[in-house]
Amino acid sequence: MTSNAPASPTADRARPASGGPQEVADRVTWIGALDPGLRNFDVILKTANGTTYNSYVVRGSAGVAVIDTVKQAFTADFLAKLEAVARYDEITTLVLNHLEPDHTGAVPEFLRRAPHVHIYVSPRGVQVLRALLKDEFDRYQVTVVETGDTVSLGDRTLRFLTTPYVHWPDTQCTYLQEQNLLFTCDLLGCHYCDDRLFNDKVGDFRFSFEYYFDHIMRPFKRYVAQALDLIEPLEIDMIAPGHGPVLRAHPQEYIRHYRRLITKRLASETGAQKTLLIFYVSAYGATAQMAGAVYEGAAESGDVCVSLFDLQDGDVTPLIDLIEEADGLAFGTPTINGDAVRTVWDLLSSLVDIETKGKLGAAFGSYGWTGEAVGMVEARMQGLKMRVPEPGLRIKMHPSAPELEECRDFGRRLAAHLAGRPMEREIDMSALLAR
Ligand SMILES: Cc1cc2nc3c(=O)[nH]c(=O)nc-3n(C[C@H](O)[C@H](O)[C@H](O)COP(=O)(O)O)c2cc1C
Ligand SMILES: [Fe+2]
Ligand SMILES: [Fe+2]
Repeated sequence: MTSNAPASPTADRARPASGGPQEVADRVTWIGALDPGLRNFDVILKTANGTTYNSYVVRGSAGVAVIDTVKQAFTADFLAKLEAVARYDEITTLVLNHLEPDHTGAVPEFLRRAPHVHIYVSPRGVQVLRALLKDEFDRYQVTVVETGDTVSLGDRTLRFLTTPYVHWPDTQCTYLQEQNLLFTCDLLGCHYCDDRLFNDKVGDFRFSFEYYFDHIMRPFKRYVAQALDLIEPLEIDMIAPGHGPVLRAHPQEYIRHYRRLITKRLASETGAQKTLLIFYVSAYGATAQMAGAVYEGAAESGDVCVSLFDLQDGDVTPLIDLIEEADGLAFGTPTINGDAVRTVWDLLSSLVDIETKGKLGAAFGSYGWTGEAVGMVEARMQGLKMRVPEPGLRIKMHPSAPELEECRDFGRRLAAHLAGRPMEREIDMSALLAR
């Protein structure tokens, strides 16, 4: 959305948004918003049946807490639900588990009505909150909380878990101790809109849960692991996420599923051996010949598991899983019209969904006169925070026998880097000057 005007909720062609507050547990009420008409989230996700922005009220004997809010366009709906279950003067606490606008859109309006509340955010969250509230920030009481900190609502206690990068640096989870209930915001959520609200009522939403994981959580697997390390020891009877169904039936199963989704699958098959994937495209076979020779050189020592893939005509999607678990990637592309070939770019741009930082990267390719492709691919790999220890290898037109040997040597060097035994490099000054 580019306009500053409040957006109207997305209209659904098939189903009207409906419903009031819903009790999810004793003295815990859902006051979120249904957005059944949303078809695209954060530009990158398709949302075939919309989403929900879940917000909750927890009522204790000495205080009432609001956990997260909703997207701005749903502010009126949210406030109406809130007012149906609590008076503003009773509300003592606002917990913001994540400051992305889909959860904080209603915060400014809410604060105007309840300026006395204490706001609890993570250390990184406070920076985003300041940016959100601008000059109004100083009017409010904001407390930064970290793992183990608690806030009391009398007979109910909220305990915080700092869980950064699930989905932004600011994310945290909040545990309602007396009821073993975990508020997870984006974590363990999904974009699935159904006013029946509970996982045991809404039917099968697996595809949505996994699709959401793949696009929202997967790039941050390392951080998901850290979050799960904090969550797994907790007794959990219910997970109340910020999007999609409330997980009250078999909540542990969803945590186990996340653990499975972040666990390397190939590692057990290749053992400790490092893996190198070589991808190439080739119009006249020159880059293909280079790729074959790079493969031979890399495979020679036998201490790296090397695989070769021709990207011609292929769908790159299935390769993402392989790449995620590989230690090294080499891309071979000719220069065509001053650029690398489109399938190579398609594959490289698909890597935003996975963590590429620290993987070994290399580029090679045949060219006719300008040969920009190899350098462009190297720059992209560096942009993906891969390490590119060997300068890319370019060969003019089809490789000769000595040039094929250069390719083999390139492969040997890549394998040596991966196996942790980098080879001495003989610097050929004439080659350097020719670049
Ligand atoms: C349509 C087309 C455009 C090309 N554009 C370039 C170019 O901009 N710069 C360059 O160095 N070579 C260019 N070339 C030459 C190729 O890079 C060269 O023929 C190379 O050997 C092809 O490798 P391949 O057999 O692996 O496809 C072009 C070739 C074709 C067919
Ligand atoms: Fe988010
Ligand atoms: Fe979200």
